[in-house]
Amino acid sequence: MPEQLNPDPTNPVPTNTVPAATTEATGITEPTEITEAGVAAAVNAALVAIAAASDSAALKSVRTSHAGEASVLAKLNGLMRTVPPTEKAAAGKLVGQGRARVTQALTAREGEILEAEAAAQLAAEEVDVTAALSRWQPGARHPLTLLQERVADVFVGMGWEVAEGPELESEWFNFDALNFDEDHPARAMQDTFFIEPTSAHLVLRTHTSPVQLRALLSRELPVYVVAPGRVYRTDELDATHTPVFHQIEGIAVDKGLTMAHLRGTLDHFVKAMFGDEAKVRLRPNYFPFTEPSAELDLWHPTFAGGPRWIEWGGCGMVNANVLRSAGIDPDVYSGFAFGVGVERALMFRNDVKDMHDMVEGDVRFSQQFGMAV
Ligand code: FA5
Ligand code: MG
Repeated sequence: MPEQLNPDPTNPVPTNTVPAATTEATGITEPTEITEAGVAAAVNAALVAIAAASDSAALKSVRTSHAGEASVLAKLNGLMRTVPPTEKAAAGKLVGQGRARVTQALTAREGEILEAEAAAQLAAEEVDVTAALSRWQPGARHPLTLLQERVADVFVGMGWEVAEGPELESEWFNFDALNFDEDHPARAMQDTFFIEPTSAHLVLRTHTSPVQLRALLSRELPVYVVAPGRVYRTDELDATHTPVFHQIEGIAVDKGLTMAHLRGTLDHFVKAMFGDEAKVRLRPNYFPFTEPSAELDLWHPTFAGGPRWIEWGGCGMVNANVLRSAGIDPDVYSGFAFGVGVERALMFRNDVKDMHDMVEGDVRFSQQFGMAV
């Protein structure tokens, strides 16, 4: 910081004093008597040094050499002893004022230096809020959500409706109305989260199939509905299972629907989702709410792990008992239904090897898929 040599222009300090002897520290005359010029020279030298001090350490050494015990001013003060009584007052005033000016200048410079140092420290430690913001990764939509929306789009494109059902479901919708026996193993405590009190007969739905019946009960026939949603099972979290996962249910009830319609719908569905080379295979199976029933297997040449058949879900013709539960005459109407796992689809469609990644909520996982899966 550039400084005036004499910070007080109304009180100019003479600078033309010729030193006779010098002290090591200041390069200024070793005083032998108190003179106006001598005091002025010492003050001036101090002010010059003070102005030149650029940090606390430099100022500290200036303070020692120009105002400390060995300073010229201190020595001048020491000479007060030798001053005749009649001149003591004037000499004392001269030295006192000189020392006061130096002390004042030291205090003022110290204030400036501390302020500058604090400002420098603040600047060095500054948190740039905008820079920090730009380091934040923007959020991303979860690929499971995107995948479900894509499925919905495929079916909306075929004229189907999208429906939802409650995740907290009555046991009746989740099991009874779907023709599950009283003692069907899926009802067992190890598969189903029952909600207390159990007398309320509420469960966390174990599949999206209860939406089949809800859709039939709330609509006029024919019904073509697809229902994506979250389901719960007491499965342990591992690479291929999670206790909270997603399914997509489809149900169509109309006059004259056959397995051929189911097959055609699924063919279109998997090709729209996985590409034209994808194939569907129906493998005979049992579900209480469809008859006949089949496992729905999927094949694709570029699936991670090589081309192979992978179980994706279940399907079949809606069981006549389910139609009756909805007040529909199975002799007039028939229907097909299917349910597939969304997490599984993400695994083999996008080569996600471990389901932990889908549930842990790390935004980098979502970002990896961008805005489209
Ligand atoms: C069912 O849930 C039947 N509701 C499917 C159905 C619907 C059949 C309509 C007939 C008509 P399943 O329990 O097999 O079926 O489950 C279907 C799919 O959900 C599985 O193939 C798998 O893709 C997925 N799935 C099942 N359990 C888990 C789990 N713990 N974690 C992730 N995905 C799972
Ligand atoms: Mg299965």
